[in-house]
Amino acid sequence: MSESEHTLPEITKECASSGFGISRDAAVRIQEQGNSNLFLEELLSSLDSDCNMISVSDVADFVESAELTQDSDGEDEPQSKNNGDMRTVFDRGSGLKAQTINSSASTEGKVYTLGSEPVSGTEAREKWPEMFDTTLCDEITHTISRDDAERDFSITGDITGDSKTTGTVEDFNKLFRNRYKRVSEILENKMPGNIPIEQLTARRGGKDVPFTGIVNRQWTSQNNNAMLELEDTTGSIPIVFTDERMSDILNKVTTDEIVGVLGQLSDDGNIVFGNQIFFPDIPPMRSPNTTNRSVKAVLLSDLHFGGVDFAAKEWKSFVNWISTSDEAKEIEYILIAGDLVEGIGVYPGQEDELGVIDIYDQYVLCAEALKQIPSDIDIITIMGNHDTVRLAEPQPVLKDKFKEPFGDNVTFAGNPSMVNIEGVKFQLYHGMSINPFTDRVPGLDIHEPTGAMELMLEKRHLAPMYGQNVRLAPEPEDYLVIEEVPDVLHTGHVHTFGMNKYNGVMMVNTGCWQYQTDFQRKLNVEPDVGYAPVMNLETFEFDIKKFN
Ligand SMILES: [Fe+2]
Repeated sequence: MSESEHTLPEITKECASSGFGISRDAAVRIQEQGNSNLFLEELLSSLDSDCNMISVSDVADFVESAELTQDSDGEDEPQSKNNGDMRTVFDRGSGLKAQTINSSASTEGKVYTLGSEPVSGTEAREKWPEMFDTTLCDEITHTISRDDAERDFSITGDITGDSKTTGTVEDFNKLFRNRYKRVSEILENKMPGNIPIEQLTARRGGKDVPFTGIVNRQWTSQNNNAMLELEDTTGSIPIVFTDERMSDILNKVTTDEIVGVLGQLSDDGNIVFGNQIFFPDIPPMRSPNTTNRSVKAVLLSDLHFGGVDFAAKEWKSFVNWISTSDEAKEIEYILIAGDLVEGIGVYPGQEDELGVIDIYDQYVLCAEALKQIPSDIDIITIMGNHDTVRLAEPQPVLKDKFKEPFGDNVTFAGNPSMVNIEGVKFQLYHGMSINPFTDRVPGLDIHEPTGAMELMLEKRHLAPMYGQNVRLAPEPEDYLVIEEVPDVLHTGHVHTFGMNKYNGVMMVNTGCWQYQTDFQRKLNVEPDVGYAPVMNLETFEFDIKKFN
């Protein structure tokens, strides 16, 4: 089976990861398509969020209405060399995809038809007394106080209020051109002298030539050699790698990322024999920025207020600790990497696991819970896939009516955002690309999420793979490029705790505050619950608190 075709379990898994169930007959119908990978990606993008189970008729309707143009290039045949424009990348967007994304953007993502008009915390508590009683602390006495005189933070790289996409194919073209320009400039520092692909034909004669491009396709040849097709703004060319010692680095290559290649052009000029691959990467042995005073931040993620599996005992223990412990005196910031609430309609059968089935009231519950944290701590949160914003990345912040119940000490930012706290740069990203990274790259596992986070830094991109469970809004600027090297990369999403350092950048995935859901049980996800890593921004020391 070629790489572009899924097995039935893979189809089921991919549907589940996108929040849909699927009947076996429908999965078979998808598998019958010539390029089931692309077909499934397009189908999932086209479905309404209130579709719980994909049926055969859904697939048939999609085939009929979409008139999907399948890739007829053949799996093992390299494409002709020079397209003369970004046509291959350009075409991958297709009118169908553009239409879907546009629709998503215009409705700001998931529907929340169960959402009510804004109500007060008291009214919400009367509606859901059991969930409010179990989630919130009975009485909190704040025994320590903090000075905010030296506090200073700013947020950059946030799409909120700056979305320019109209969902057209031209927007996809601009997005990929922007990605290519910015990441290839980083690569230029590492491998100078790159030449445009269209000029490769003038470099025949056995000498290695350097060039960069977006990975347009990757496959295995009939001779079992790894193949890539790289494309820049001038053309595209296939590359064959015959040295088995390169298999480790080739395993890390993903579609749609920007890489550099050093290789020799064949005598007929139709193919390059690749000898080396370069990732843009971050500089080695980099020293992080630090604050000039002793101040601490707590890194959290995936709170999921409103679900019956919310880890109330652990949360209350955390709130009591941060309100009363001398250890917490220097904590002046809390960063949250998204998924404030459980949300509604995120995956099949989720309604059975909701304690609060009104999306607005879920945010009221979250706001009430965050108000029990001392108000002299600044809380900065980005959005996740369970939050009520568009699913396609980059994600803007919540609409005002959802933010209104929160205290003044809570600052909302889009996903991703760079949060600069007194000179220390935190790259916050919810982490939806961790799943496709771990699915695709051998040796990676969501239970050790820093492996995928290291690849983000190496590729200088938070989510390079277009499609594959990461939905992308075609903004003319690529907000997911890691242009500025952060001091800390802080993610969540997979609900597992992980911490590691890569070239001086601290990577932290902060676990969650939700016990294992039935949905996670089916996917063998073992969540790490109740972790609160505390970072000293002056010393870069971490104290990992685990609440029970
Ligand atoms: Fe989550």
